[in-house]
Amino acid sequence: MHTIDAIRSRRSIRSYLSRGVDRDLLEQLIWDAAQAPPPRRGQVPWTFNVIEGLDRISVYGQRAKRYAKENHPDEPGWEWAETPDFEVFWGAPVLIVVSGRVEDCCRAGENLLLSAHARGLGTCWVGSPLLWLRNPSIKAELGIPPDLVPGAAICLGYPASIPEATRRDWPTIIWSK
Ligand SMILES: Cc1cc2nc3c(=O)[nH]c(=O)nc-3n(C[C@H](O)[C@H](O)[C@H](O)COP(=O)(O)O)c2cc1C
Repeated sequence: MHTIDAIRSRRSIRSYLSRGVDRDLLEQLIWDAAQAPPPRRGQVPWTFNVIEGLDRISVYGQRAKRYAKENHPDEPGWEWAETPDFEVFWGAPVLIVVSGRVEDCCRAGENLLLSAHARGLGTCWVGSPLLWLRNPSIKAELGIPPDLVPGAAICLGYPASIPEATRRDWPTIIWSK
């Protein structure tokens, strides 16, 4: 798939086939993610957790939702934690968590989304589990180094259905010449 086509046709997928994703392919996706430009030469301080298995991920989703319901800050935007049919990981058979500095995680995460789409996979970037994932005991459970912060959580799998494109507003462009 052409890069421009991948950028313009990617959609957030919230319905997945139950089949898993081969480890070779998962490694290729992570290698593509790691091609994101580093702020300086050398190793970027990040880790990629690959969590496999529908049941395990579904239980994590329930835990993340319960944790958010009980611990979220007193501000708007957390209604999903009380919404019965809101799913944190949307039945995905694979979950990838990128930890590090948030800006590094975001560059890698977008690469991963586009690479997955170009390879016939679907993804959904999910912010909903981050409060839970950033809890020190959960980081320890998942083996995330204490000095790194989970910055991107991405559901991954083969799409069962692909939604219509959501509208984008033309961004403000400020020209200088
Ligand atoms: C930082 C961030 C957090 C997001 N969190 C969630 C989430 O928790 N759950 C979810 O279903 N989608 C989440 N999304 C996906 C957006 O809702 C999605 O990008 C939006 O619906 C537009 O759809 P599209 O990606 O198909 O264009 C998130 C996206 C971003 C960038």
